[in-house]
Amino acid sequence: MFGVPTDVGAGSRGASMGPEALRVAGLVEALVARGIDAVDRGDAKGPRNPWQAPVDGYRHLDEVVAWNRAVMDMSTVELEAGRMPVMLGGDHCLAMGSITAVARHCRAKGKRLRVLWLDAHADFNTSAITPSGNVHGMPVACLCGLGPEVLVNLGGPGPMISPADVRQIGIRSVDAAEKRLVHEHGLDIYDMRYIDEVGMKQVMEEALAGIDADTHLHVSFDVDVLDPTIAPGTGTRVPGGLDYREAQLMMEMIADAGGADSLDVVEVNPALDKRNRTARLAVDLVESLFGKSTLMRD
Ligand code: ARG
Ligand code: MN
Ligand code: MN
Ligand code: MN
Repeated sequence: MFGVPTDVGAGSRGASMGPEALRVAGLVEALVARGIDAVDRGDAKGPRNPWQAPVDGYRHLDEVVAWNRAVMDMSTVELEAGRMPVMLGGDHCLAMGSITAVARHCRAKGKRLRVLWLDAHADFNTSAITPSGNVHGMPVACLCGLGPEVLVNLGGPGPMISPADVRQIGIRSVDAAEKRLVHEHGLDIYDMRYIDEVGMKQVMEEALAGIDADTHLHVSFDVDVLDPTIAPGTGTRVPGGLDYREAQLMMEMIADAGGADSLDVVEVNPALDKRNRTARLAVDLVESLFGKSTLMRD
């Protein structure tokens, strides 16, 4: 695993402290205690946040590109060593780097890719429709080919993924024009209403359906998928998110399905938190993703 201490893609400062918050919450120790060979490779390096207004619909595009190159490279090193990349963000724009590396790896190995995008937001904006210019609202669109060439082709000729590879869970905030785009591209979204109606168990059965031994499962965990009452330490809070039990079941069912092959934990912002609560909850949930359960199961 490695940290990516930046908030260049966000609209508020502080997600740059996310990696350290997750370390302080004991992420490495928790995984090692589970018998996992977790190694903290330290932090990726990149430019400081210049904190500028958006230009042509992007805030800090050059910096976003530089950080994502670093993420792609560190993810690739782990994948080539046969290890599971775990990226500690940082804001969610960084998933472009991690998923680009994973998608390239899948191509080379002839594996299918499934991306579980756990988030309050669809992150499917483009520079033409973004209400904010913040690139953390654009990574899914960019990965699907809707974005600037520098990002779409970050790891060679893109697009790196197709909307059909993606399942989004916990969504409850999609901007007006973004809704149209999501619909046009047929993105598979399990929004909060659907979770309310059918329950998390059925949602996860559907989202995980079709995954087999030849599928690489990437989990991109934006902590704002959680309800702000249990996870206040994040920059774009939206009411009505996953409660503790829903989030646990989601992670446990991923573990039961064979677990993730790569993981992002993003948007932890300790500057907005109380006593590192959000990072501690994220660690608790990541333990479940790695198979922690109340009873021994087989
Ligand atoms: N849709 C909003 C925007 O484009 C918010 C995106 C929030 N994304 C995130 N990864 N927290 O600005
Ligand atoms: Mn996100
Ligand atoms: Mn989000
Ligand atoms: Mn609920």
